[in-house]
Amino acid sequence: MITANTPVRIGTKTAKNRITMAPTVKFDWSDDSGIVTERSVRHYAARAEHGAGLICVEATCIAKDARLAPTQLGLWDDAQIEGHKALTDACHAYGALVIPQLHHGGYGTHPACGEKRGPSETPWRDGVAREMTTDEIHTAVKQFRDAAVRARKAGYDGVQMHACHNYLINNFACALNRRTDEYGGSPENMARFGCEVIRAIREACGPDFIISMRASGFDPSEEEARKINACYVEAGCDYLQISSGYEDPEKFPHDETLPYNRIADMGVRMHDYFRGIVPVSCVNGIRTPELARYLIENELVDTIDIACGLLADPALSEAILNGTPYEKCRGCLRCGYGPVKKHFCPAAMARGVTE
Ligand SMILES: Cc1cc2nc3c(=O)[nH]c(=O)nc-3n(C[C@H](O)[C@H](O)[C@H](O)COP(=O)(O)O)c2cc1C
Repeated sequence: MITANTPVRIGTKTAKNRITMAPTVKFDWSDDSGIVTERSVRHYAARAEHGAGLICVEATCIAKDARLAPTQLGLWDDAQIEGHKALTDACHAYGALVIPQLHHGGYGTHPACGEKRGPSETPWRDGVAREMTTDEIHTAVKQFRDAAVRARKAGYDGVQMHACHNYLINNFACALNRRTDEYGGSPENMARFGCEVIRAIREACGPDFIISMRASGFDPSEEEARKINACYVEAGCDYLQISSGYEDPEKFPHDETLPYNRIADMGVRMHDYFRGIVPVSCVNGIRTPELARYLIENELVDTIDIACGLLADPALSEAILNGTPYEKCRGCLRCGYGPVKKHFCPAAMARGVTE
């Protein structure tokens, strides 16, 4: 029987168990330089020490003018490699695999960092995103590739592309792409940009380098999302983590009697489609050992991604693996999405965390 403790093959590497720490940006933990700080090293090392088999480091920008916030971590410059090396060494010491999530803000670029841009001209939040030229698309492919090469130099086991949540790769692969050239129209064309990124990284970093996509399970529809993700796999993606994108998750046909939520369900259903082809992970609302084990032991997914639960207490991994105590995430979302200088998470505070 497969349990959370069962190792899992990802590309040519093996994660020692089925628990993945999901990427979570930390606002203000770095500065305009995007360099990894000691605080981040301690943060990720603690999650590795408590047993997560794979650590996916937060959205890390590939170009300074494509950041989602002015203090976002980066891999756009060689000067950033050393800080990442400290992070990978610290996580590897505990036997975890570790990959950064490579990110381009696309429509969601912070106005203080650069122009909002993407496949088509689109009203987006407080402005209008501009259509990218073909040359700019090719430049973005190279920026992803160069960031992956830096990641490899920093000792990462691979990279994950941020291809969900309305950032650039997802912008191409959703209903807001109205291009009429080779980057728009059919699912294959909507996937083209992501596939070019995958191929460029594979060529530059070789076969022993995990290439993961954190992709949407419902853009522009479930069926088209499958086709787009199949293109990514065909191009060389080793590992799919499924989350939401542009489409409203409320429209996803989800059976409310299931013990997991509708975004996690997108991953479960994508796993059904890719079973035995590449490992597939689901995310969202997995905050208890019981639900984590249910998803793994029933082979509904290959790995589980946990964000808030592991921010609340890194010991959640051991609780899943060994049944030991942990501090449960309250689900309040006070851990994120704003400039967080202090720790506002009540579960972390209950553990005595002060920074
Ligand atoms: C503080 C915070 C930061 C996040 N940053 C990222 C990120 O960098 N990349 C990403 O793909 N998702 C990000 N997310 C989304 C999480 O990875 C995850 O999909 C979401 O929180 C749902 O999972 P959970 O219920 O286990 O928290 C973030 C979520 C939070 C709460």
